[in-house]
Amino acid sequence: MEYRVMGRCGHSVSVFGIGTMRLPLRIQKDGSTNYGSIDEQKAIDMIRQGIDQGVNYIDTAYTYHQGNSERVLGKALKRGYRERVNIATKLPVWKVKSADDFDRILNEQLEKLQVSSIDFYLLHALSKKPWQRLKEMGVLDFLNRARQDGRVKHVGFSFHDQLPVFKEIVDSYDWDMCQIQLNLLDEEFQAGVAGMRYAADKGLGVVVMEPLRGGALAQKVPADIQAHWSQYRVNRSPAEWAFRWLANFPEVSVILSGINNLEQLNENVSIFSKTSPHMLTTEESDLINQVQMLYREKIKVGCTGCQYCMPCPSHVDIPEIFRLYNQVFLYDDLASSQTAYQELIKQKSDASQCVACGQCESLCPQNLSIIEKLAEADDVLRT
Ligand SMILES: NC(=O)c1ccc[n+]([C@@H]2O[C@H](COP(=O)([O-])OP(=O)(O)OC[C@H]3O[C@@H](n4cnc5c(N)ncnc54)[C@H](OP(=O)(O)O)[C@@H]3O)[C@@H](O)[C@H]2O)c1
Repeated sequence: MEYRVMGRCGHSVSVFGIGTMRLPLRIQKDGSTNYGSIDEQKAIDMIRQGIDQGVNYIDTAYTYHQGNSERVLGKALKRGYRERVNIATKLPVWKVKSADDFDRILNEQLEKLQVSSIDFYLLHALSKKPWQRLKEMGVLDFLNRARQDGRVKHVGFSFHDQLPVFKEIVDSYDWDMCQIQLNLLDEEFQAGVAGMRYAADKGLGVVVMEPLRGGALAQKVPADIQAHWSQYRVNRSPAEWAFRWLANFPEVSVILSGINNLEQLNENVSIFSKTSPHMLTTEESDLINQVQMLYREKIKVGCTGCQYCMPCPSHVDIPEIFRLYNQVFLYDDLASSQTAYQELIKQKSDASQCVACGQCESLCPQNLSIIEKLAEADDVLRT
């Protein structure tokens, strides 16, 4: 495992961090799964095996798996595992209605995680408006207090907005770290590579989320893109290429991967035992550039399937609709997506159920025009 320094706080962190937003789910009797129902034994085994193989940074949040991710992580870190890792969790800023909520939520998180202290405490998914609102409510005083009384060791924020807002937040407080979305398709999206460099320059550790764009860069890779990867003389999975592109940046401290099984864990441990900053050759960088161009031509909606928009009050399955819509163009296969869409129509979770309330748009970290894109998807997917 490669280890890097987490910005000015100087901690040595594994470049591969486990993200616990996509833990394995329990399969119900009817074969379905429910995002809130984690397969605890599988998740605990996976997390412990990750730590045994050198992972020492684990990311969770109050809202992941409908509140159960922190609870399961707390169980996984029993039997001496807690002492071997850095725990990062986040304050769900959209759930803070008054200043009293700061302490109430943090104390609840400590209890769920069964720990007395959190190593990295982040303000979750900051963007311009919540940041202003939180500052006015005294969030920075709260963070100072939580640091002083030891409930929190280091503080940071995760981010989903434009670069100028990112810079403003970086410059507003003595942060230890930040967490940004970065992958080979999002080089200039939100904070992007420019934000990564800005933050690192100011001494912040940079943690990357969605490195495989929620898995899309690793799975069901379009044939022409796979052909590009395959032309290289060393055989590497698309996941390895995407991780190497990120690990090449010396500014990156941790790359979070939302693994959900042991195969992914083992593959990623192996990939991150061979990484180092500035590792890519010119030939490798050129190949990645070609793949980036091919992808940009194909993707219609930049949905990463993070589920922040869910549940929709009108039961529209927003991430699934966008996945089906993108697949039409990625794989040049309209028929399969239309067939799958018929199921959503039967379940009344298709795009026509949307009443344009806009709740999803205010929650989407990608700032997607969801209402407009749903209508566009419906036009294509409805037979
Ligand atoms: N703060 C925020 O606003 C925020 C937002 C998003 C994420 N996060 C954090 O960042 C973490 C990472 O983001 P992410 O989960 O979106 O990461 P990601 O790496 O982009 O996507 C994770 C998915 O990639 C697939 N995968 C992982 N390793 C693979 C491998 N070796 N080969 C093939 N597929 C592989 C799996 O897909 P399948 O499930 O399809 O198998 C997995 O669920 C999250 O878990 C969460 O902790 C934070």
